[in-house]
Amino acid sequence: SIPSKGTYAHYMQKEIYEQPEIIEAALKDRLDVESGKIDFQGLGQHMDRIRTCSKISFIACGSSYYACLAMQELFETLTNVTVSIDIASSFLDKLSHISADVAYVFVSQSGETAECLTALQYCQKRGGFTIGIVNVVDSSIARLTHCGLYINAGVEIGVATTKAYTSQLVHLVLLALALGAGNDSTHDRRREITKGLQRLPEQMRRILTLDSSIKELCETKLMHKANMLVLGRGYQYATALEASLKIKEVAYIHCEAVLTGELKHGVLALVDDNFSVVMIATRDRSFERSLNGYEQLLSHGGDPIILCQEGETAFNISNGHCIEVLETVDCLQSVLNIIPLQLMSYWLGVLRNNSVDFPRHVAKSVTVE
Ligand code: G6P
Repeated sequence: SIPSKGTYAHYMQKEIYEQPEIIEAALKDRLDVESGKIDFQGLGQHMDRIRTCSKISFIACGSSYYACLAMQELFETLTNVTVSIDIASSFLDKLSHISADVAYVFVSQSGETAECLTALQYCQKRGGFTIGIVNVVDSSIARLTHCGLYINAGVEIGVATTKAYTSQLVHLVLLALALGAGNDSTHDRRREITKGLQRLPEQMRRILTLDSSIKELCETKLMHKANMLVLGRGYQYATALEASLKIKEVAYIHCEAVLTGELKHGVLALVDDNFSVVMIATRDRSFERSLNGYEQLLSHGGDPIILCQEGETAFNISNGHCIEVLETVDCLQSVLNIIPLQLMSYWLGVLRNNSVDFPRHVAKSVTVE
């Protein structure tokens, strides 16, 4: 049955607001904070097999692919396994070699995306071991994979995914933690992440209070733009890609995600005082290098909106073009940073009178290749 919108104007808005409680419930269900133990029910029995695989190969489309991209580095640091990620259509185009000692992990909200299903059948026909990370219960990917994990984000109606994306991120973090369990060399890192997870729902609630200021930013600065750039690097490159997809599909604004370090390799030519740039620059290992990108933008007349840590003083921002978010562990920061950008795409869609829940030309579940 279709859930009600309640007091919200759109499903997308409701789903953005549901995120803290969904993450809270997922953590309560799966994570014992004291011991750090993770309960994956069915998938739990397969952890040893995944740990001994020579590689984990993530396969997904759209936002689900960006969720994998956001967590690739974390899997590489917490497990001793090589990680690859592929967009399902490209995995098929490449005629990828399938090996029995690789874990093929299919990440999909709907569990029905055509290319994912074709890639899944391609793997299984060649003896591949397949795992599903899906939201929709009993969907094709959930049924056809050897084992898997539900992200339990609840029914998502808005075509532009929001709550399923953050649930995917958190479940991927949990999976990386579970695969890394028992590894002494990463004990402190895993402990830090576990503590960070615990604080996430409350931090997400606080970030949602930015809503009216983001709406205002959209009204005063962004709604009439024809082009935008979203910059990010390190863990935040995936956030930039996901935000730019949201802005395209909900706001119908041409929006490109650029790796901050690549700005000087051509993209800078686009920048003038009419070109809107959102730069994600929360403090992590690549922060200092993000500052170079900031300087490059300023010196060419750019007037970027900065998404940064609360109380950040590194930017000379007097015009209020700054979105301040709370700080968490680097690999979890994406869960917080995407929220104001979801709100930005939502308000841009509303202000431009678009059909935000059901954008033109796109489908929630793409069942044709
Ligand atoms: C469609 C949706 C996207 C989604 C992608 C993958 O294009 O509009 O929001 O990310 O499919 O969907 P999946 O259900 O496999 O996550």
